[in-house]
Amino acid sequence: MALIDVINFRKSFGPKVIHEDVSFYVRKGECLGLVGGSGAGKSVILRSLIGLEKPDSGQILIDGVDITPFNEKELIPIRKKVAYAFQGGALFDSMTVYENLAYPLRAHTELAEPAIADKIHHQLAEFGLEKAINLYPGELSGGMQKRIGLARAVIMQPEIILYDEPTAGLDPYNTKKIQELILRLKAKGVTAILVTHDIPTAMAVCDKFAFLKDKVIAEQGTIDQLKNRDNSLIQKFIEGNIL
Ligand SMILES: Nc1ncnc2c1ncn2[C@@H]1O[C@H](COP(=O)(O)OP(=O)(O)OP(=O)(O)O)[C@@H](O)[C@H]1O
Ligand SMILES: [Mg+2]
Repeated sequence: MALIDVINFRKSFGPKVIHEDVSFYVRKGECLGLVGGSGAGKSVILRSLIGLEKPDSGQILIDGVDITPFNEKELIPIRKKVAYAFQGGALFDSMTVYENLAYPLRAHTELAEPAIADKIHHQLAEFGLEKAINLYPGELSGGMQKRIGLARAVIMQPEIILYDEPTAGLDPYNTKKIQELILRLKAKGVTAILVTHDIPTAMAVCDKFAFLKDKVIAEQGTIDQLKNRDNSLIQKFIEGNIL
C-alpha cells in the first residue's frame, strides 16, 4: 500500500485554479521527484500534505487515512509523521542552532532537557554540524542554514520527509552534503518527496518522477519506464532541456 496517496486533488486560490486534478502515490521507502515550472504548484502540494492548505476537493491519504477533513488538533500527529523541509530553511533568527532544534522536541515530545540535549548533539554530529550548535542563523552561510533546517526537520524522526528545493542556490560542496543527507535518510527507509530543479540531485535520490504541468500531472513513472518513452517531459528535464 502507498504511504502517500493523493487522489483527484483540486486546489484554487479565489478564481485562480492551481491544480485541476492531481493524482500520484509514493510507497514506503520510495523517493518521488516532483518537478515542474516555477508557480506550477509544487510547494502548494507539499504544504497540503501536512494540512497547511486545504484542497477544494480530492483526498490526501497518509498511511491510508484521509487528512483533508482534519482540524489543527488532528493534524498534530500527522505533522510528527511528516516533516516539511521548507524552501527557505525557515530557522528562527533569534534562536541559536541548539534552540532551533530544541523547539520541536519541547513542543511535541515529553522529553526532559538532558534527553533533548542528547538528541540534538547526536543529530548535529550525524550531519557534521556540531560546531554550529551555539551560533545564530545569521552567523551561518546559506548552505549551513539549509543543512540545519534539514537537521531540525528530521530530529522528530519522521516517516516521511518533504524536501522543497533543498539545494537551490547552494554551492557544489553544500549541494553534495545535502545529497548525502537525503541518501542517508533514504537508506534508513524514510519515504520522501523531493521538489527540485537540481538534476544531479534528483537523479541521485529519486526512484520515480511526477511532472506537474498545466494544472495536472502531465507525466509520471520510474526512470526505467520513462527511458523508452518518446518525447518524455521528464527525460527532457533529466537531460537539462526543459525548465
Ligand atoms: N496562499 C496563497 N494565496 C494565493 N495564491 C497562492 C498562495 N500560495 C500559492 N499561491 C499561488 O499558487 C501558485 C503555485 O504556487 P507554488 O508556491 O506552489 O509554486 P511552485 O511550483 O512551488 O513554484 P516555485 O518553483 O517558484 O517555488 C502560484 O501562482 C502562487 O502565486
Ligand atoms: Mg515552491
